[in-house]
Amino acid sequence: MPELIRDPSLDSTLDVLREGYPFLYNRSQRFDSDIFQIQLMGMKAICLHGAEAAELFYNPKLFIRKGAIPRRVQTTLMGIDAIQTRDNGEHRCRKEMFMSLMEPASRQRLMSLLAEQWQRYAHRWEQMDRVVLFREAQEILCRAACAWAGVPLEEKEVRLRARDFGNMVDGFGGVGPRHWHGKQARSRGEKWMRSIIRAIRKGTLPVQEGTAAHTVAWYRDAEGELLDVQMAAIELMNAIRPIVAISTYITFAALALHEYPPYRQLLRDPAEDYAELFVQEVRRYFPFTPFVGALVREDFTWHGFEFPKGTMVLLDVYGTLRDERWWQDPEVFWPERFRQWQGSPYDFIPQGGGEYLTGHRCAGEWITIEAMKQAVLFLNDGIRYDVPAQDLSYDLTRMPTLPASGFVMTEVRATGKGA
Ligand code: HEM
Repeated sequence: MPELIRDPSLDSTLDVLREGYPFLYNRSQRFDSDIFQIQLMGMKAICLHGAEAAELFYNPKLFIRKGAIPRRVQTTLMGIDAIQTRDNGEHRCRKEMFMSLMEPASRQRLMSLLAEQWQRYAHRWEQMDRVVLFREAQEILCRAACAWAGVPLEEKEVRLRARDFGNMVDGFGGVGPRHWHGKQARSRGEKWMRSIIRAIRKGTLPVQEGTAAHTVAWYRDAEGELLDVQMAAIELMNAIRPIVAISTYITFAALALHEYPPYRQLLRDPAEDYAELFVQEVRRYFPFTPFVGALVREDFTWHGFEFPKGTMVLLDVYGTLRDERWWQDPEVFWPERFRQWQGSPYDFIPQGGGEYLTGHRCAGEWITIEAMKQAVLFLNDGIRYDVPAQDLSYDLTRMPTLPASGFVMTEVRATGKGA
């Protein structure tokens, strides 16, 4: 039986915070292995890297999520006991609820709402000296996501709600004030969503069938029970918050357009859906999710390595997206690589891998891709702008990360071309 390589550090918790995104990748390269062991928060954790390991990790018969996600991530990013922590039939049932929101007509409705907002904001930006794209995109996405979900949003609360959704995401990898801001944003958001769920159930807030608010408020589990108000609030927010988080990828996409201007012309080629290749490469190249975790369901072995029941297992998302065995010259931004991509659910995992319904793969992947394509085409042709000197670097030790300036644009002019 082969020995698992162990990281010599007595506990790697601080190293994860210090090294950030490349923590697991650094070790898989150092040990020249797709599997190794670390101590994390006083517990043994088996770490996996690469497509073959991702296929193992996304076998729902081998892993569970209950107990795998640290409380500090649940109290900021996704809420306590949300879908991300559920297993088996309970997970499947709730995932069906989320996936029912991802039908083409529903996605199209979101894209139309987004298109309207991009146009509206472009005219506002013409009056502004300086536009911080990340902040503006958060508001655009927040307005459209709430309208799409059937959640009323007053003009005066747009900024606060958009920031709160952003801070929930920003809080997951932070310590001190950043974590605290994330928690505060979450409790404010949950209170808001609870009031929406109660109003829908009382009949005082009319919502259209098929919207996220209606679907979540009236969702019944396998036993025919409604979700309790708090759980419904959390899951409704799980349909809105991640849409606002697409602002991170949009900001990275703007950076890519700026740094690799020849792609601007290719994006205008009517003969090819170049935007698809471009946004896939943005999702591969730029960091967002560092890793995902699960617990071993029952003892098993893989390539002779033992996986004892209850052991924490981490899958290296960041490193798998730059694995040289799958991605030629992974540190080069090269959208054309996706012409050859075979569409495997395990090698390209920026939003998780495996199956949507039976596994934990991100429910919002299609929305993310579509919203990014729309934004890229809008940034390319819907507006003209200057990019003044600014700090566009992003810090890999910060999770989640972003170009430091948030991508500042000046002299913005709307061209009138659609988003
Ligand atoms: C799950 C990333 C956008 C809804 C996930 C997971 C990741 C992820 C890494 C977990 C995979 C796992 O546990 O193995 C992202 C990123 C996004 C994004 C980087 C881009 C901003 C969205 C959107 C929605 C969404 C737009 C919905 C509107 C969900 C839900 C889950 C999930 C409901 C839980 C799935 C489950 O546990 O079965 N996402 N996501 N996400 N995502 Fe996303």
